Order: sequence, then structure tokens, then C-alpha cells
Amino acid sequence: MSGNSAAWAIRAFERGDTDAVVELWHDVGLTRPWNDPYQDIERKLKVQPKLFIVAETPGAHDGPPRVVGTVMAGYDGHRGWLYYLASAPELRGSGIGRGLVVEAERLLLEMGCPKVQLMVRADNEAVLGFYDQLGYERFEVSNTGKRLIADES
Ligand SMILES: CC(C)(COP(=O)(O)OP(=O)(O)OC[C@H]1O[C@@H](n2cnc3c(N)ncnc32)[C@H](O)[C@@H]1OP(=O)(O)O)[C@@H](O)C(=O)NCCC(=O)NCCS
Repeated sequence: MSGNSAAWAIRAFERGDTDAVVELWHDVGLTRPWNDPYQDIERKLKVQPKLFIVAETPGAHDGPPRVVGTVMAGYDGHRGWLYYLASAPELRGSGIGRGLVVEAERLLLEMGCPKVQLMVRADNEAVLGFYDQLGYERFEVSNTGKRLIADES
């Protein structure tokens, strides 16, 4: 599979990853009070679950493998979208983020998706810089949205 290295591998999310994934999202600041991450995962498992992928490293001292990265992609028939991209802080710069995005792009392309995009806060220069490196082009747009289900957490 593309994006794997000796130190980590990419695969589809499995239900048993749930707590580790939510912990990673908390650690890297991706959780928001208005989104219950457990409900986000449950919803994704009902819609294009193969587009929810994780990176894992072999566990230290013969322990179990550890989830060290995630990305949640989706294709709506017009565009592909990326959400919840994260890599473990202590492993930044080792290619996990790139590996996850490349694999998500591959899966989207396999579905015939012509373009992939994502939302990033305008002041999040670190993430914008990362995507610049991956060949993404910035564009100005205003977002608007409406909550249809209020999560209870
Ligand atoms: C964004 C994130 C996933 C990047 O993960 P990572 O594992 O460090 O990324 P990689 O090691 O794969 O880096 C890929 C390339 O981007 C470069 N890069 C990473 N951050 C960069 C930055 N801020 N500016 C410029 N380049 C950057 C790397 O140097 C690397 O370049 P190379 O392949 O030429 O060596 C990670 O920083 C993260 O989890 N951030 C917090 C969560 C977040 O904000 N997610 C995005 C939500 S929209």
C-alpha cells in the first residue's frame, strides 16, 4: 500500500481503534465542543468507511501497535474532502501526514473523484504550509453551514 514506511503502516480504521483515535484528536487539538468525536466516527462507519484511514506503528517492547495518524476522507460525487488529518506530535516530520493524504487521494481517485479539497482556518499557517508542500493550491472562499443534528457529548 502506498505511504507505508518501515516505522509505520497505513490501513483502514477498525472499530477497536476508536479510543486511540479520539485520544490522538484530543492531543493534537482537533476536537471541538460542538462535535462529539465518537458520533463522528459512528457516522463515518455508515458512509464510505474505507475512506477513514489510520497510520500505526508497531508497539514498543512487543506491545500492541499504536495509532499515530488519521485522516477521514469523503467523496460527495463532485469533490473529495479531507477531515481529521492528524499525526502524533512526537513523530511529526516523518512522513505520516503525507502518507495519509497520498493514500486518501489514491482511494478518492479510484472512485473517480476529480478534485480533493479541505477547510483550514485562515490563520493555521502550519497546516497550510504542509498542504503547500503536497501540491495543494490555496483559494479564498467564505464558508457557511447549518447544523442539522446537535451532538450531545
Ligand atoms: C498537519 C500534520 C498532519 C502534518 O503531519 P506530519 O506527519 O508532520 O507531516 P509529514 O511528515 O508527512 O510532512 C510532509 C511534508 O510537509 C512538510 N511540512 C510539514 N509541516 C509543514 C509546515 N508547517 N510548513 C511547511 N512544510 C511543512 C514536511 O517537511 C514534509 O516535507 P517533505 O515531504 O518534503 O519532507 C500535523 O502537523 C498535525 O497533526 N497537525 C495538527 C492537526 C491539524 O491541524 N490537522 C489539520 C486539520 S485541517
